Amino acid sequence: MAGTTVGRITDNLAILRVDDSSTHYFEGLWEIPEGITYNAYLLDTGEGFILFDGWKRVYASELLRILEGLLDPGDLKYIVVHHMEPDHTGSLPLVASWARDAKILGHPMAFKIMGGRVAAERFRPVRDGEELALGGYKLKFIYAPWIHWPETMFTYVEGDSVLLTCDAFGGYGIPRAVFDDECRDMDWYLYTAKKYLVTVVGRYRGFVVKALDKLSKLGVEPSIVAPGHGLVWRKDPRLIMDHYRRISSGELVEGKAVVVYASMYGSTERLALHAAKALSQAGYRVSVYGFTDSKRPSIADTLADIADSELLVIALPTYEADPYPLIEYLVGLICEKASAPRRAAVLGSYSWGGVGAKAIASMLEKCGHKVVYVGERQRIHATLREVEEEVESLLKAVGSPRGA
Ligand SMILES: Cc1cc2nc3c(=O)[nH]c(=O)nc-3n(C[C@H](O)[C@H](O)[C@H](O)COP(=O)(O)O)c2cc1C
Ligand SMILES: [Fe+2]
Ligand SMILES: [Fe+2]
Repeated sequence: MAGTTVGRITDNLAILRVDDSSTHYFEGLWEIPEGITYNAYLLDTGEGFILFDGWKRVYASELLRILEGLLDPGDLKYIVVHHMEPDHTGSLPLVASWARDAKILGHPMAFKIMGGRVAAERFRPVRDGEELALGGYKLKFIYAPWIHWPETMFTYVEGDSVLLTCDAFGGYGIPRAVFDDECRDMDWYLYTAKKYLVTVVGRYRGFVVKALDKLSKLGVEPSIVAPGHGLVWRKDPRLIMDHYRRISSGELVEGKAVVVYASMYGSTERLALHAAKALSQAGYRVSVYGFTDSKRPSIADTLADIADSELLVIALPTYEADPYPLIEYLVGLICEKASAPRRAAVLGSYSWGGVGAKAIASMLEKCGHKVVYVGERQRIHATLREVEEEVESLLKAVGSPRGA
């Protein structure tokens, strides 16, 4: 059974968290050995309860069991849907049928996406900036489109100064802690948050910056940021907001380089590893991701690591007159989710007609990279001297780390 937590965020706001360690590939794509949490929130206004979001469908009956222990179904006045993705709404039909009088509040698009799963008369669309008063509480709904679907929005709980943000400011991982100040390994968490942001929201990262600017313009400076995944931020909400801003605006870390390669029979691997060694001797902090017949790194980690690197080196064989398929797939994802005006170099290996490196270089250029070196050669029988010469040329083109 999955771990669940019911914790107090403020006097009247509770987190209802479930720890999902069964999902190994989030969205069927992203490797998450660290797991993920789904966080719903329950506000007791004194004149009825408001539930914000929910859990994935496999945990729906578990969420209902918890709600049954906390309130009568007639006391649930509203269910606020910040985002319709099923990791937060899988439980909605069950909870909505339990609390038959609760109105469902959300962006007008949310109802469209709901596709009849809940009766139309239950739904009340909210406008951007609309306020709702209940009991001693005033809530403000703030549209935050494309974080990470078109209908996404935040709720600001005035008074308590809590901003409920669903996907925004979330992270992968199942931290033992509920709050940032209890987290023992903030470096790890900030890494999983980056990995989450890049893989899930990466395509729409410009909207993260827009949402942050919008909050500033509205004068919303939350004391607590409560996302739909991972830690709740009460000690230092600016930390996660600034982290999200830096990654979303494509800020690159000086001196950071990532070498990615694929190799079937070793010639590309030999070259890539020589290049990685030389880059690190030149002062770069290098991480290496190699796809071979004996290892396959996590695509999610590879993307996360590339997202803030100032230099990207890709080495690949030509495969059936095309770039090696895994590399083409990865570069497609880099362009969609992690492109930046970073420097890139591409090394190709072929036996009778090389096209892979040029094609990859052109993909990278089209999505904003500055390609500083393309070396495509027949390498299957390359001597050590030839490898060293190629790496020397690469290093000359790439230069030292920016800050060095
Ligand atoms: C299935 C397969 C398809 C290949 N297709 C091409 C090709 O279209 N053009 C080419 O020049 N070499 C092709 N090659 C040869 C490799 O690109 C070349 O041997 C390269 O050096 C292999 O790099 P590696 O030693 O890192 O695996 C192919 C090799 C394999 C196994
Ligand atoms: Fe989402
Ligand atoms: Fe989500």
